[in-house]
Amino acid sequence: MDKFCIANWKMQLTIKESCQLAKELRERIDFFDQPKVVICPTATALSEVAQVIGNSSIKLGAQNMSWLERGSLTGEVSALTLQEVGAEYVILGHSERRNYLREDSMMIKDKLLLALRLGLRPVLCVGEKEEERLAGATQQVIVEQLESVWPAQQTDKIIVAYEPVWAIGTGQTVSLEQAEEVAALIKNNKGADLPVLYGGSVQPDNIGAFAQSDKLAGVLVGGASLQADSFVKIINAFI
Ligand code: 13P
Repeated sequence: MDKFCIANWKMQLTIKESCQLAKELRERIDFFDQPKVVICPTATALSEVAQVIGNSSIKLGAQNMSWLERGSLTGEVSALTLQEVGAEYVILGHSERRNYLREDSMMIKDKLLLALRLGLRPVLCVGEKEEERLAGATQQVIVEQLESVWPAQQTDKIIVAYEPVWAIGTGQTVSLEQAEEVAALIKNNKGADLPVLYGGSVQPDNIGAFAQSDKLAGVLVGGASLQADSFVKIINAFI
């Protein structure tokens, strides 16, 4: 099973800072290292970061894209231009976009379809809010989030990231057992070979169990991917 370490830099770094971090990672990540390392800078930094990582083993991902290839959508970013700058992956349906930017499953489904059609590999985020977890609705929420966007074809290209909303940026994580339980639920519904990542407060001091799990295909990392030291420690836990 391929394992992934995906860095979501969110809106935390300038273009200059993104390039500096990409440069440090390029210098420190061995060419033949497992897992697959993907960095997702802010959209305006993609082009310059692509130059920095060049043909190294580090791959480029975007944090979002529009559901249309072209159109009158002021401020949106087309998947065509993501491809043009060398992005191979795109994060879709992140809870920050669902919750703060009102992204709904119709938009996410159209984005997913477009990404697949153009050959970008989607990293589809799903996850329950704290109140949903407390109400015992985790499984129902995850299944609904999957069902409402799942396409009919090319599903073997999709990566799913289980990111409980209450664990993002809070220092709290689910236990390995809970993460594996949700991964099993996702695979039972959508295919045993589907790569399922865990995301939410992943740090060098808690990565061990997640990295060694044979039920998880890696991690999606926010805060701890903003420094080369901590992100390299996370990557090394997979080796
Ligand atoms: P943190 O690792 O900062 O909790 O963020 C997780 C995340 O949202 C990655 O997409």
